[in-house]
Amino acid sequence: MKDTRKIITIFGTRPEAIKMAPLVQILQDDPQIDCKVAVTAQHREMLDQVLNLFQIIPDYDLDIMRAGQSLFEITSRALLGLQQILLKEKPDLVLVHGDTSTTFVGALAAYYQQIPVGHVEAGLRSGNKYAPFPEEINRRLTGVLGDLHFAPTKTAAENLLREGHDPENIFITGNTVIDALLNTVKKNYRFPSATLNSIDFQTRRVLVLTTHRRENLGEPMQHIYLAIKELVQEFPDIMVVFPVHKNPAVRQVAQKFLGDLERVKLIEPLDYEPFANLMNKAYLVLTDSGGLQEEAPSLGKPVLVLRDNTERPEAVAAGTVKLVGTDKERIYQETKQLLTDNNAYNRMAHAVNPYGDGQASRRIREALHYFWGWQKEKPEYYCGGA
Ligand code: UD1
Ligand code: UDP
Repeated sequence: MKDTRKIITIFGTRPEAIKMAPLVQILQDDPQIDCKVAVTAQHREMLDQVLNLFQIIPDYDLDIMRAGQSLFEITSRALLGLQQILLKEKPDLVLVHGDTSTTFVGALAAYYQQIPVGHVEAGLRSGNKYAPFPEEINRRLTGVLGDLHFAPTKTAAENLLREGHDPENIFITGNTVIDALLNTVKKNYRFPSATLNSIDFQTRRVLVLTTHRRENLGEPMQHIYLAIKELVQEFPDIMVVFPVHKNPAVRQVAQKFLGDLERVKLIEPLDYEPFANLMNKAYLVLTDSGGLQEEAPSLGKPVLVLRDNTERPEAVAAGTVKLVGTDKERIYQETKQLLTDNNAYNRMAHAVNPYGDGQASRRIREALHYFWGWQKEKPEYYCGGA
């Protein structure tokens, strides 16, 4: 009889779900692995959108989200809920993803029960403990708690090596977000919404905007929206599509500053499929998101990052992502340049794949087989590609 192992994957927010979905699917298809899913539901609607799309039915759902939740609430509710699940299931490994509070708490809960932890999207570092907040510390703590580190890129792996992690436990896999993206973006895609289908992407230059970072709440976000307002007033052919994060602190400010502009479409968060296809049809992306910095470059879309630093330097080095911060004038000038200077635009608008080739989940599955002694060879490293 074949040796088998039980894994519990733990996630709670939209980006974790998108990036764990391809991995869950591949692990659930593996006859040697019993892969269960526990969601904290740190996000509710935005998590459910992804679970529905990828047809993932969680085995456990802690349903912890509350409107305007604090970090203390997320951390304590998730930790106590996960205690019971791990006690009952006694898995051989817990898998967490990225840098949310669910990620850190999932790793901590596993550690408290001496269960090995695999960290997917390990090794990203901004070098500033308060930016992004609290993600930089969440991922560092998860790194300390982790036993297996699935680094998406060589740079991420080097960060882990510098921190003293054993190279034997580091696997450079690419980012699973590219696995998800490549299966989702389609030629001649039709949106399920009339608003988006009515946009003529040939004559309108569409700017996709997303904002949600905790350190951007308040004044920085107001500056971002004021810059957008000026740009819309100056360029009659642009349209801004802004799927507004469910956080009330984002929604109120977005509505106040952008709510009455005809060419700014404030819409509900989109399902992943229409969102990825919207990016694919867009002219450029303005965002403080982490995931968009990985996806848009592989679609050949320039990204202006509304932050002062990034833990994703690879696309900056490749020239498709630029950090512009949250100063109103700077955002206005940088966007204006991409709207008026074809050479500047073309220098940024080329497809690069530093983040993956769509095979990250397979490599992670092979790494697990290697870890459990079912496979002799360590999986090949992902080296990045143009
Ligand atoms: C969280 C993560 C962040 C990640 C982001 C992805 C932490 C501390 N933050 O930030 O790392 O980049 O998710 O989007 O882990 N809300 C809803 N419905 C939803 C989702 C959120 O109503 O489906 C509202 C709730 O009022 C909630 C608030 O948004 O309290 C904030 O959610 P929270 O998970 O605390 O922070 P995010 O900014 O979403
Ligand atoms: N996304 C989505 N619908 C939207 C906006 C974003 O599906 O309306 C996806 C996006 O493609 C990416 C992920 O959500 O994969 C990014 O999530 P978010 O920006 O909330 O979090 P971060 O990546 O910053 O942690």
